[in-house]
Formats: sequence, structure tokens, C-alpha cells
Amino acid sequence: MRTLLELIELKRDGGAHTDGELKRLVDAFVAGEMPDYQMSAWLMAAFLNGLSSEETAALTSAMTASGRVVDLSDVPGIKVDKHSTGGVGDTTTMVLAPLVASCGVPVAKMSGRGLGHTGGTLDKLESIPGFSVSLDPARFVEQVKEIGVAVIAQSADVDPADKKMYALRDVTGTVPSIPLIVSSIISKKIAGGADAMVLDVKVGSGSFMKTESDARELAAELTRVGELMGRTVVCVMTDMDQPLGRAVGNALEVREAIDTLRGEGPADLTELCLCLGSKMLVLGGVAVDQVEARTALLTSIASGRAIETFRAWVSAQGGNALVTDDPSLLPVAPVTHAVLAQNDGYVAGFDAESVGRAAMALGAGRARQEDDIDLGAGLVMAHRVGDRVMKGDTIATLYTSDAGRLEEAEQRFVGAFRLSDEPVQALALFHEV
Ligand code: URA
Ligand code: CA
Repeated sequence: MRTLLELIELKRDGGAHTDGELKRLVDAFVAGEMPDYQMSAWLMAAFLNGLSSEETAALTSAMTASGRVVDLSDVPGIKVDKHSTGGVGDTTTMVLAPLVASCGVPVAKMSGRGLGHTGGTLDKLESIPGFSVSLDPARFVEQVKEIGVAVIAQSADVDPADKKMYALRDVTGTVPSIPLIVSSIISKKIAGGADAMVLDVKVGSGSFMKTESDARELAAELTRVGELMGRTVVCVMTDMDQPLGRAVGNALEVREAIDTLRGEGPADLTELCLCLGSKMLVLGGVAVDQVEARTALLTSIASGRAIETFRAWVSAQGGNALVTDDPSLLPVAPVTHAVLAQNDGYVAGFDAESVGRAAMALGAGRARQEDDIDLGAGLVMAHRVGDRVMKGDTIATLYTSDAGRLEEAEQRFVGAFRLSDEPVQALALFHEV
């Protein structure tokens, strides 16, 4: 049997691991028998030399088996999960969970917190006064059976291998590796009890995959490894060359989600939710095709069933459900500031990552895991790519609790905002479905 050192050397030299070797690496690391420096070296070797689809599937299985696997067998129906590969101002989970549940597909979801310029669903949910993201496992399943939806914090005992490996990847330059991303995402979803999954792979400046060909490769590998694991994985590639919707920031995005569930949300967020949601309904077996699924989602929004499900969900997790009718009950940072266009022109693009960093500068994000965030902080963009703006028009409204943060945030937002003298075509949201 090879030692841990020999396994690192094998991957360093471009060799292939057996299933058993990958399981041994993961188990030794989670048990604390493989120190961080050895796993860091192996991660870098895997980053540089890659893993085959079979190796990635074996790594995924070992990661899934490293902790508790959530048992959703008590919840009737096909459990379909959804994941977005990092994005800025991505409000989709908050819309999709109740929307899809209102159409009969149960949503039992574990979600993460935001780090860096990307926001996390848990922080957004916690901006609803009283909302609790920690339910015990039995209550979690009960709630899904009762109202069709529950979203909780990833618990420490589910996929501990991913938590430990991701923490190392984050500080060793090994995050943007296709096999490591694939095993991280799919192991978490399977450990969370998913039978099938819809994955939204972001392309562009705000995301891990900056080019379309990298994103396509990631999507293909997610599907292939999902298949090797016996799960149906559907990928959608969406644009991150501008943030989704208009709001970036926790409570601001809850408002946007409420608007969208009422049928009054921004067009791009609404369209993405209809696209991902219809795939979830088809995978969940409640619609025969995309057309029927889309009609079901639109009917749920128009009839008020979608927003009623959101209300029931918020209430079940201890949140103040009155926010549904009166979003002014959500926290709002007291200091606002309008960012003005410095020239006439057409909006040519936003660097989504810089927009995320502007929101972070306002207090909406955390630079380190233990940082506090200002739930009412963030920004609302006034324009989309292709819009005509005149000098002096408001291009964004900033919200913060600390006026001292405005200058950096404004600089970052202005730096993210590109104007062109020539007319610009509105961006297509979908690269490939
Ligand atoms: N999202 C994940 O969950 N894991 C990764 O490795 C990258 C994105
Ligand atoms: Ca948004």
C-alpha cells in the first residue's frame, strides 16, 4: 500500500489514483492523520495535473461518505437540489425554493454563508427578523413534509471533507480546478439528500470560470461525474458580466425576491428563476416538459401561491412573515448615497466582481469567515447593459451604516461601470442551456 507521501508523488508525476487511494486520502485528512501541508500539496498536484472523471467520481464518493448523509426518504417525491457556482447578487435560491415548492417539488436545502464578494443565501435569510437557519434534522424533514420547503445552514457533520478541503483550497490557490469544484459541489448535494440537481454555472468576471470554454468544460464534467454517481445533473450556463437583478446586499435582495415572487421582479432574475425552476419541476416529475413546467411556475406566481409559500416558509422558520406585505420591516442601512454618471453614454458592462466588492465595502459582505455583516447594507443598480444614461443620472444607490465606507464603495462601483459612446446590445442571460 502506498504511503500518503507516495500518493502525493503519484499525482505530482501525473499518475492516476485508484478509488481506494482517493478514499484513503480523504479519510486520513478528515481523521487528522494527514496534515494540512500534505493535503495542500496533493490539492496542488491535482490542480496542476487534473483528475479523470473516474477519479473525480471516486473522490466525490469518498467526500460524501466522510460524514452524515441526510436521509430524506420520509419526504415523498423526487428531491431536486439547485446550486449556483458563486455569483454576485444571486437571489435565485430565495425565489426558487418557495416557487418550486409551491408547484409540488419538495425543497430540503442546505446552504452556505457568503465569503468575499459573493453573497450567501443564509445571510440573506437571516436579514428577515427572527428567521432561524438552524433546525434540528428531524424538524428539518418535518417542515419539508408540512409546507414543502426548508433551508438550513450546512451542518458540520455533513461532508466534513469538503469543509476542510475548501478551507485549504481557499488559501492555497487551488479553488478554480474543475475536478475539485465538481467533487465539492456534487458530494455536498448527494450528502444533502438530493436525487437530482440543477446547476447554474456562472460565466464571466464575477465567477470562478471567467471564459465560456472553461465554464462549458465545468458543466460537461459536472454532468458526467453526476452520471457516474447515478444522479441526473442538468447544467445551465448563465452570464455574470452583470450582477443578477438590481440589488446586491442581504435585506435588499430579500425585497427583490419578494417582488419576484409577486411577479414584479427584475426581468433577468425572473427569467433565470423560470428557467432553473422549470428544469427542477421536470426533474421532480411534476411536469412533462419545460413548457408545461414554465406554465405551472407562472400560474403559481400569478395566483399568489408562490408568495403564500414564501410566507409559510418564513413563518415556519421563526421569521416575521409580515415582511412579505411590508418589506419596510426589513433592516435598511441608514446612510444612502446616489452614485451619478460622469458622462453620457450607453451602459457597456459591469465588472460583477467589483460590484460585489463595492457592496462588501459598504458592509454587506465579509472578508473573513468570522466578520460581522451589515444586513441592511448594499447597493441597488439603476441600469442594465444596453441602457442609455446621461451625465448626472443616478447609476446606483448605496446603503451603509457607516458614512466612512461610502468613498471606497463609490470608487469601486464607478470602476466597475463601463460606458460606451456607441449603442450597446442588451446582454443575453443564457450562454447555453
Ligand atoms: N462551489 C463549491 O461548492 N465548491 C467549489 O469548489 C466551488 C464552488
Ligand atoms: Ca440581485
